[in-house]
Amino acid sequence: MTAPNKVLVVYFSRTGHTAALAQAIARERGWPIARIEEATSRQGWWGYVRSAISALLGQSVPIRYDGPPPESFDLVVIGGPVWVSKIAAPALSFATQHAKGLKSVALFCTYGGSGANQALAGLAQVCSLSPVAQLALTEAVMTSDTFASPVKDFVKRINPLPGNTSSTAVPTGT
Ligand SMILES: Cc1cc2nc3c(=O)[nH]c(=O)nc-3n(C[C@H](O)[C@H](O)[C@H](O)COP(=O)(O)O)c2cc1C
Repeated sequence: MTAPNKVLVVYFSRTGHTAALAQAIARERGWPIARIEEATSRQGWWGYVRSAISALLGQSVPIRYDGPPPESFDLVVIGGPVWVSKIAAPALSFATQHAKGLKSVALFCTYGGSGANQALAGLAQVCSLSPVAQLALTEAVMTSDTFASPVKDFVKRINPLPGNTSSTAVPTGT
């Protein structure tokens, strides 16, 4: 595989684990990073229930994405938390909306302890692409701050050439 020149990291996170992982991935090569947002908060008990229902029904949810156009990148790294063994609805909705323009993808997720493989397989299916690399880390790993090594391995699989970064894209909010 030729190393991709332009790589973008895009993620959704409800409670911060996936955000921390996305930031660590982007930091490795200085890749631009963009967050998928929603108009309605998913915090609290009701937010949890709504999230579970969205995932169970495979619902497409309204999202706000203010990052650079993913279609202009060689490879997009997409991630989200696992919700009832699926990728969280906002991340899945992003992938669905942009699937046609994606050239290549790498996928990641954080999760409590089960369903990560199924969730990443579902995300790959929506992208209609076979990911060049996948990374699933538990929230225990994220909170114990032991994720540096798996992140390095994941990034190497995406782009084995240090310093081969995008110089044109402007980083967006994390
Ligand atoms: C509605 C909902 C459903 C979840 N379902 C699962 C699940 O099926 N398997 C699992 O291992 N963790 C599950 N989790 C836990 C999250 O995947 C985990 O806490 C993740 O790290 C949260 O990421 P975030 O902090 O980026 O939002 C669920 C969390 C929520 C809110």
